[in-house]
Amino acid sequence: MKSRILYSIIISRVISYTSCKHDPLYSGEGICFESQILPIFLSNCTSSSCHNSIDQADGLNLTTYQGIMKEIKKYKPLESEIYEAITDHGDDMMPPPPRPPLTAEQIELVYNWIGSGAPNDVGCGQVLNCYTSNVAYSVTVRGILNQHCTGCHNVSVISGGVILTNYNDVKVQVDNGRLWAVITHQAGYSPMPPSGMLDSCSIRQIKNWINQGAPNN
Ligand code: HEC
Repeated sequence: MKSRILYSIIISRVISYTSCKHDPLYSGEGICFESQILPIFLSNCTSSSCHNSIDQADGLNLTTYQGIMKEIKKYKPLESEIYEAITDHGDDMMPPPPRPPLTAEQIELVYNWIGSGAPNDVGCGQVLNCYTSNVAYSVTVRGILNQHCTGCHNVSVISGGVILTNYNDVKVQVDNGRLWAVITHQAGYSPMPPSGMLDSCSIRQIKNWINQGAPNN
């Protein structure tokens, strides 16, 4: 019985993996470490006193591929400490409450990435396939913010008084000019995300959406 359940989990993972393969944002096959995996860790695990290069809580620096790989067994998500931590519901749960857990989508991505050997893919051709017209909040902008920002800007962790997990709160930051100012590193604002500038495709997509009046589309 147990093995049948495991088998069906594996099959569903395989199906979802294959159906994700042709995500139009990424030209390469499989999952891109630099643009899909690293931002999940930067946004959710590397705040002050956590797993950043300075604090290294539990000896862990999750801001680099090498640091993340210390907790990963290639091809074996279920034996990887990181996967255990993000799926734990007990004391070892990461990120620890009150921080929100990773989304099911993010957990799935990490699972599939480790399962495919945790490759260190960088520069995955996003710019070539960058859609920058009629950019929609629900399709694109929300995804960028969830990937790069909401780990530090949610209803439990409201860094700088800014929440970015829902349209109304995001719109406030568009209207006061701060969203655009922080992602383009304008003088007088804190550069965001703190780990480094967003890729140019994401910035151009946000720009197109703001230019349309930042609709809730
Ligand atoms: C690792 C945590 C972290 C991540 C990830 C992060 N922020 Fe922040 N953010 C902070 C902290 C801490 C502050 C408040 C202190 C400061 O201003 O530096 C802040 C402040 C801000 C402010 C107000 C800054 C100002 O100068 O008025 C905005 C707007 C903001 N963040 C947007 C974003 C956006 C957009 C992203 C993603 C592209 C993002 N943040 C990602 C931690 C983070």
